[in-house]
Amino acid sequence: MDQHNVDKNLKRPSKCFQGVENIFCVFERYPVFVLTVIFLIGVITMVLHMRTLTSHLIASMAEKNAALYSDALEELRTLYTSEVVERVRARGIEVTHDYQEKEGAIPLPVTLSMMIGERIATHAQGARSRLYSDLPFPWRKDGGPRDDFEKKALEFLRNHPAESFSRIEAFEGRESIRYATADIMRPSCVQCHNTHPQTPKTDWKSGDVRGVLEVIHPLDHFMRETGEELRGTAVFLFIITLSALILLLLLTGRLRQTSRRVQQRTEELEKALMSTESAHARTAQALQEAEQNRQRTEEALKQTENSKKELERLNVFMVGRELKMMELKEEIKDLKEKLGK
Ligand code: HEC
Repeated sequence: MDQHNVDKNLKRPSKCFQGVENIFCVFERYPVFVLTVIFLIGVITMVLHMRTLTSHLIASMAEKNAALYSDALEELRTLYTSEVVERVRARGIEVTHDYQEKEGAIPLPVTLSMMIGERIATHAQGARSRLYSDLPFPWRKDGGPRDDFEKKALEFLRNHPAESFSRIEAFEGRESIRYATADIMRPSCVQCHNTHPQTPKTDWKSGDVRGVLEVIHPLDHFMRETGEELRGTAVFLFIITLSALILLLLLTGRLRQTSRRVQQRTEELEKALMSTESAHARTAQALQEAEQNRQRTEEALKQTENSKKELERLNVFMVGRELKMMELKEEIKDLKEKLGK
């Protein structure tokens, strides 16, 4: 492994490509930043989604509540009609809208309905109700549709008597649900409405939409409470996300430190390896030199051997000569002696 290769493996890629790989590249380079952005988008989307969901929930709950309240009012009127009005009227007791001015008289069902609506409206959180039409009796000075919602509701319910018409809007400065249903003429209603001396219309038929029963329920208090809870949840989510991010930051810091240490260690090892390699090469060279020396010594040895043999041969020759000389000297001596005689 050479130095160049080590570097390439350890360092993060410094070149980015086009297209999809670019995203991964950005993520690889700035993971914490990318995760922060993703987390933030997630939390914001979640909070917004929760807000929409809550407002949908509030609207549907409010509508159900208003429908319930409206049904209860209707039921009360029907019951009052069948169980009270019908019975006492048979005993000659007068049932009229201006019962307070007549001794022994009791209120008409519709008058009682209107009174209940007004009474409950005085409670801070209570819903109020209103029974109105575009054909009120002449004494009812506050009759008829009063605003855009009431006009629209009457118009809609005339065409769709079986349905309901509702809206969430500010009413007298408070966010409220306004829920309207048709008040339909039944056989028991028609006769009285057509024959009453002050009736504005005399040809009512069963099934006609006589008017509108509207329920108005303020929601501001409820909305404030849910809003506070939603804010609490959002804060909680942000805190959790922030903690997760801080943890992540610490973790990546640690990882980077470790990777840096690993890189350093690898570089050190690489250096050690290289120095070992050069030492190895040096040893090999020394070995080679030693081998050469050995060969040279061997050669010298061989040469010495040769010279030794030569010398030996010379020696033998010299010794032979010596012996010959000695023999000759001996002969000379012998000859001299012979001569001397
Ligand atoms: C005994 C006679 C009588 C009967 C029965 C009767 N009404 Fe009435 N109705 C009246 C009178 C009188 C008024 C006016 C009350 C007032 O303004 O205080 C009235 C008012 C109304 C109003 C309000 C109109 C407005 O614009 O102010 C509606 C709606 C209504 N009646 C519907 C009905 C229906 C539906 C029934 C049957 C379930 C019915 N009424 C049965 C006599 C009667």
